[in-house]
Amino acid sequence: MASYIRQRGTLDIYETHGTIYQKIEQACKKVASKYNYKLIQTPMFESTALYTRSTGESSDIVTKEMYSFLDKGGRDISLRPEGTAGVIRAVIENKLYATNDLPLKYFYLGSFFRYERPQAGRYREFMQFGVEVVGSNSYLDDVESICLLADILKEVGISDYKVKINSFGNTDCRLKYRDVLKDYFAQYVDSLCGDCKNRLQVNPLRILDCKIDKDFFMSKDIPTSISSLDEKSKEEFDKVQELLTKANIPFEIDNRLVRGLDYYTGIIFEFDITSSDGKTYTIGGGGRYSNLVKELGGPDLNCVGFGLGVNRLSLILEDKFGLDSFKQKAQIYVMPLSEICIDKAFEITRSLRDADCSVVMENTKKSVSSMFKYASRQQFNFAIIIGEDELNNNVVNVKNLYTQEQVSVSLDKLIEFLRG
Ligand code: HAM
Repeated sequence: MASYIRQRGTLDIYETHGTIYQKIEQACKKVASKYNYKLIQTPMFESTALYTRSTGESSDIVTKEMYSFLDKGGRDISLRPEGTAGVIRAVIENKLYATNDLPLKYFYLGSFFRYERPQAGRYREFMQFGVEVVGSNSYLDDVESICLLADILKEVGISDYKVKINSFGNTDCRLKYRDVLKDYFAQYVDSLCGDCKNRLQVNPLRILDCKIDKDFFMSKDIPTSISSLDEKSKEEFDKVQELLTKANIPFEIDNRLVRGLDYYTGIIFEFDITSSDGKTYTIGGGGRYSNLVKELGGPDLNCVGFGLGVNRLSLILEDKFGLDSFKQKAQIYVMPLSEICIDKAFEITRSLRDADCSVVMENTKKSVSSMFKYASRQQFNFAIIIGEDELNNNVVNVKNLYTQEQVSVSLDKLIEFLRG
């Protein structure tokens, strides 16, 4: 008989892990709403050309990691490896920039796909929360992006993260820096790995991010992008740092920080968190990108945004607080003791849920002792016991499952009693 197992690098998420994901999603949505960012939802697949054009011919995503295929109509399609390209395509196609005030501020949450070598925190299908600010000409939006991500971490109870920032300045500064790096790395061309030999021609910035050549360049004095910044870019970078300090966000300048996607131009950032086994995870990253809207056929609009890895954040939360602390528990367990009590139990359950209580009603026939065993395993706060006597007297027995105290409460006072 054939047996079916999930694909390498994919996850089944359930039970308490599901609750952690829910908590992260709720935190992301709550913070996005505090900043008045609006939901944008774009398709899970787009034309392959969109990603090749936007994320860059030299990025690992395009060269190695895309799930691309020809569909039945012969179209060259890819599962989305990231969210920015799809959002910008949607902004241009729907002319959102022409019908709404700028900057547009959007968030999204969903699955993304990269054919990567799976390991802890690295999957082939992963979940990202992301934001894109489109039509932004102020460094304040860079700061706002970083603050928004920091506030999500605060919302889920994480404060021990570190933000790494770097700046490439405007397009001219970046081009200047590319040339500086090209000249610099040319002297080491024989020592570069195969990929980096190619990167030297296509995009020398990506050499800074090479996992293979990293050790070789560790001790070398590579020119920094900051040294290629013009006055205005330098001033803005200083201002961003000033505001991050004011906002109490722990950051450091990382001269070697480049991002894995080619569209970035100005300030870039990554959030790192170290787990208890000493492993550091980059849980989110982003930055400014000034040319993408134009390159994809839209007007000249400057943008900034980031992506937050929900799977990685979930690993961190489990590591920091323990799986048990996320266990989903209902407050109230409604126990009808016999067939006759079912209708009343049903009615009480409905009214408690209407009053926003989380309630489990016992829907199967069980002995009283197995009901109590179940209640204890599930760690409910209260059991509401409904027997024939109670039914006749318009009361229920409420048992506090922590103190084991039991009292009789009249039906019209039940909600008040439970709230008290
Ligand atoms: P990214 O750095 O490629 O940026 O991804 C953002 C985050 O997604 C990473 O920091 C990581 O936490 C998570 N992530 C990426 N790949 C995987 C994977 N294979 N498994 C698990 N988690 C992963 C972007 O995607 C940009 N679109 C962000 C952005 C938006 N920049 C501007 N706007």
